[in-house]
Amino acid sequence: MTKRLTITIDGPAGAGKSTVARCVAERLGYTYVDTGAMYRAVALQAVRMGISPQDEEGMSRLLEETSIVYRSGRTLLNGEDVSEAIRTPQVTALVSEVACIPLVRAFLVECQRQMGAEGGVVMDGRDVGTVILPEAELKIFLTASLAERARRRQLEWQEKGVEASREEVEQEIRARDKMDREREVGPLRIADDAIIIDSTELDVDEVVDQIVQLALAIKGEDTP
Ligand code: CDP
Repeated sequence: MTKRLTITIDGPAGAGKSTVARCVAERLGYTYVDTGAMYRAVALQAVRMGISPQDEEGMSRLLEETSIVYRSGRTLLNGEDVSEAIRTPQVTALVSEVACIPLVRAFLVECQRQMGAEGGVVMDGRDVGTVILPEAELKIFLTASLAERARRRQLEWQEKGVEASREEVEQEIRARDKMDREREVGPLRIADDAIIIDSTELDVDEVVDQIVQLALAIKGEDTP
């Protein structure tokens, strides 16, 4: 049997990680895991339960009572498919604050580690190559200029019928990146052995091709 790699894709908000990671997984026949979706599910549950991220006891109770499952590209919160509900501006505005809480990170990191344990996985997020799967064979840090990331995110919002100015989107991304970089546990940073890809001037297919080629080179094969 050919070797099934572990591939991690980390990077700032709006760099295109999810789209790229999903395509890479498809091309290689691997499983895709979106770790950000799981943080979003915790944030959604906090909204629903009316618990503030600053309320440590409340958040601890929330984690005890909540099951979060990521399976076949869908996010399940206590069994309910919340894949769309976790993408709203309200959840997006809260998620990085929730992701700073050490208790939340410990809860999700353990679960995400298990999901990646068998290999044959492409996992994207902020701390995948550094904390969740530090032994991964291929680590990518995917980035793009702030202006380009804001442009892409604004288009995404528009497709969902959410109107926001470029400045508002840029502001939201900048605030989230700052929180993600500056938190003490699992901050966004480039793993020492990561390959940096700047996608400012590349389309999705070009980025996917680069990553698939890197994966095949590691496997010592020409085709998946
Ligand atoms: O908006 P985007 O797709 O870039 O973000 P996401 O991947 O859905 O992640 C949402 C938020 O979850 C991030 O801004 C981080 O605050 C948090 N996150 C994290 O802390 N660690 C991860 N491994 C993944 C996401």
